[in-house]
Amino acid sequence: MPNPTESADLAVSPPKNQRRPGAIGRWVDRFLIGCLVLVVAILTATSAPAVLGRPFGGTMLLTHMMASGALVFGLPVFAFAMIRHFLPQHPIARSHAAGFLLTVTAGLLTIASVFACMLPIPSTDQMHRLMQVHKIAGLTMTPAIVLLLIGLRLTRSASHHHS
Ligand code: HEM
Repeated sequence: MPNPTESADLAVSPPKNQRRPGAIGRWVDRFLIGCLVLVVAILTATSAPAVLGRPFGGTMLLTHMMASGALVFGLPVFAFAMIRHFLPQHPIARSHAAGFLLTVTAGLLTIASVFACMLPIPSTDQMHRLMQVHKIAGLTMTPAIVLLLIGLRLTRSASHHHS
């Protein structure tokens, strides 16, 4: 027997200015992903001289270092906010999960490799290898974010089909 109040709720559509509970979360996600895309674009663009084998210094290195702070602070915020997508009530596309995990793992490796270089532990040779790891992990961020964006889209279209 359906509860009369529940049926009445279903029959009347909510006022236009009243957002569904998930809507705010989606805007937070959009904002965080937008920031991540911007910061990773700056970090990748500023590292272009090093990737092309040219000296890495001056304004490019300065900008790389300024943007790096934003990633060090922003990546954990992004990861903590988006981890709720893994709640079992809301199944997500595989590419969505893989894109998120790859973005966070590559981001952590990008940061950890630089952090390890700062410690008085690695030899010069090991530092060079750590910078190789940094480069590969950093350049993996872009395809990882692209995969995440595709996955988010697939999850959204699947949930529209179900509702
Ligand atoms: C998408 C993110 C990033 C990309 C694509 C990226 C890419 C690169 C590349 C290609 C290099 C040159 C490596 C080499 O010499 O072979 C480099 C150097 C460096 N990066 Fe990044 N990076 C990113 C994020 C970061 C972050 C988050 C930090 C700091 C926590 C950072 C700090 C550095 C430092 C200190 C260097 C060495 C600069 C030098 O050789 O003087 N990068 N990065």
